[in-house]
Amino acid sequence: MKKHNFSAGPSILPQEVLQKASEAVVNFNGLNLSLIEISHRSKDFIAVMNNAQALVKELLELPEGYSVLFVQGGASLEFLMTPYNLMKVDGKAAYLDTGAWSSKAIKEAKLFGETVVVASSKDKGYNYIPKGYEVPTDADYIHYTSNNTIFGTQMNEFPGNDVLKVVDMSSDIFSRKLDFSQFDVVYAGAQKNMGPAGTTLVIVKDAVLGKSGRNIPSMLDYQIHAKKDSMFNTPPVFAVYVSMLTLEWLKAKGGVDAIEKANNEKATLLYNEIDNNPSFVGFAAKEDRSKMNVTFNLTDASLKDKFAAICDASGISALNGHRDVGGYRASIYNALPMESVQVLVKAMQDLNK
Ligand SMILES: Cc1ncc(COP(=O)(O)O)c(C=O)c1O
Repeated sequence: MKKHNFSAGPSILPQEVLQKASEAVVNFNGLNLSLIEISHRSKDFIAVMNNAQALVKELLELPEGYSVLFVQGGASLEFLMTPYNLMKVDGKAAYLDTGAWSSKAIKEAKLFGETVVVASSKDKGYNYIPKGYEVPTDADYIHYTSNNTIFGTQMNEFPGNDVLKVVDMSSDIFSRKLDFSQFDVVYAGAQKNMGPAGTTLVIVKDAVLGKSGRNIPSMLDYQIHAKKDSMFNTPPVFAVYVSMLTLEWLKAKGGVDAIEKANNEKATLLYNEIDNNPSFVGFAAKEDRSKMNVTFNLTDASLKDKFAAICDASGISALNGHRDVGGYRASIYNALPMESVQVLVKAMQDLNK
């Protein structure tokens, strides 16, 4: 049976990407060698890294002066790499607390120095994005989580033009058009819209680096990774290659503009069903709803088993909400086809009938 994969991460990748990736594992570029058994310094792999970096720049329309890095350690390592590289000794950083991932980033920043939480939506179980807060102009940077994977909220504005802006974009990068010239560091684990787990994309404005006054260990120093073109040590070759294939797929689809339109259509269909079907209720505040992770609940919890049976019979996979939140979460990332959302909507309608 065809599966409809709503997994929050690692998550659905385009079928053609998986096909090409599997072929490269056996015979890469007709070399009769596997992608994962050749040197990362071979011309064939250097071409992969260069192409992946160029595609990031092209698809996000990055201005001059930014470096594109593929590092390891997941987005979680960026929680400490960002303060290491940007928070001055005796300086301070500002954070917006919009959920579990922001909280984890805040915890790491506190190890480095004064960390100001400018606002939090914890009071309502993180079902909205705080607004109207002040960003301290003497902060070394403000940190945002653009999309809250667990709670299903998404930011549309990134206040604080007087300080550097750092954004964890793990679960919505490449999903919508944004002006990247407003950001100083953007990071994202690959395993949602870009590729398999194992690499983290980091986009850094070169001019902001080298100013923290800290002695940064080499592997945690953005400047070293940038200077070595993400080849300071052995990069995660398979994860970078699959990311490159996914970015090629996105480009062929018409790029970020085209995928944003498709993502809007998928999200509109699903939220309309949640709002009009009396068996379901949305979790996130309407104006802050995520177009990547759609969170909702049953209005009558006793229908849980019935809905599970309908979902199973429809091939719907990984719809359960995060263990901290419960309910349901449909992750409708770039590679998820409209057909899968239509199948989910039909399952919701069948339950209501
Ligand atoms: C928004 C966000 N930030 C950070 C992380 C942590 O990423 P990783 O597991 O790559 O460290 C996740 C994982 O789902 C996430 O969704």
